[in-house]
Amino acid sequence: MRGRNILFGLSGSIAAFKAAGWVHSLVKEDARVNVVMTRSATRFITPLTLGALSGNQVFTDMFSEGEGEPMAHISLPREADVVLIAPATAQTIARLAHGLADDLLSTAVLAATVPVVICPAMNSNMLAHPATCRNIATLRQLGYQVVDPDSGLLACGDEGAGRLPEWDRVRETLLALFSDDDLAGEKVLITAGPTREALDPARYLTNRSSGKMGYALARTARRRGADVVLVSGPVQLDPPPDVELITVETAEEMLGAVLEQAADSSVIIKAAAVADFRPVNNHSHKIKKAEAGSQLELVPNRDILAELGNNRQDNQVLVGFAAESRNHEAEGQRKLRSKNVDLIVVNDILGEDTGFDVDTNQVTLISRDAVQQLELMSKEETANGILDRVVGLLPGE
Ligand code: PMT
Repeated sequence: MRGRNILFGLSGSIAAFKAAGWVHSLVKEDARVNVVMTRSATRFITPLTLGALSGNQVFTDMFSEGEGEPMAHISLPREADVVLIAPATAQTIARLAHGLADDLLSTAVLAATVPVVICPAMNSNMLAHPATCRNIATLRQLGYQVVDPDSGLLACGDEGAGRLPEWDRVRETLLALFSDDDLAGEKVLITAGPTREALDPARYLTNRSSGKMGYALARTARRRGADVVLVSGPVQLDPPPDVELITVETAEEMLGAVLEQAADSSVIIKAAAVADFRPVNNHSHKIKKAEAGSQLELVPNRDILAELGNNRQDNQVLVGFAAESRNHEAEGQRKLRSKNVDLIVVNDILGEDTGFDVDTNQVTLISRDAVQQLELMSKEETANGILDRVVGLLPGE
């Protein structure tokens, strides 16, 4: 979002207070936000509040001299990278669907030549009314992106569709608009997180993976137009919006899920920290101290990546990770060959800011013909760097 200019329109719904939080989130991500409010929106939340949150002047009326910008309806959309209207009431949706220009927001939308994202929020019956449905369909025909409302308890006490969607879903919609669509048409299978190998009903073997790297890859691949399937071990992360999530626990379950999806995946990226071993027995009752010996007998799990490498589909891009504490590049080269993959992403698990359970990473990308060191950056930016290399490995690139 850094440096992006968002023209943020609010119309008169109780959900305007939630949208105010979105303005704050955008500013925290270094976006520049100009707010335009319809007159009815000012009945729910004040321009003063939105001005404080956005750090910019708020515009409410095309003709009010006090706002010092006589041609705001032209200058605001001209400076914008995107127009986001949230909440969008039935009235504002109707205005836009019919190309009216009787207030600053609808006029600015007509003058906009950038993408327009609309988040309807209203009572379920209003949303279901044929007129509203027709107007929303018209907006889509006009090329506007409509983010479907969520369902649940509404301010009026009804249960049903009409809630403003979660910010995470809208944020992903905006980021997708700011991303290249260079993975459009690709089915990308990503694994993330640890596995858990049970010893008894109370105990299991696992590792320090939080899933952050794999989830960042899933989000960024989705933004770049891919259809994403995410096979995830147990993590504490929100599912990425518009990504098919398959949750597993053990290495064996992950193997099954991956092999099921692999056949029609054009890209497979294995960021999960899969346990190499599991206890020889998964006891049905908790092992008592008196019974427990000092040795834990383990058996190896199947190597999912190696199996994918040995049964490669034509034109499939296969990416593995290497979690190393020493001999990083040598180990990366070894895995590249032994597992027959196209790219190995090596990361140091001893670094304070790299590897397990941190928001940043610094990786070395090893393919057969190149070794590339990426800078220390966020796992989302690292994911973009990895996906840049994946795009270069796609057939026909
Ligand atoms: O999840 P985070 O907290 O963000 O941490 C990110 C990460 C450190 C987990 C990630 O960046 C990473 O390095 N993932 C791979 C961890 C791992 O298992 O590395 P490895 O060198 O042990 O395995 C090599 C490759 O084989 C990996 O792609 C792994 O998914 C795969 N593998 C390993 C064992 C196994 N039985 N089957 C596999 O497919």
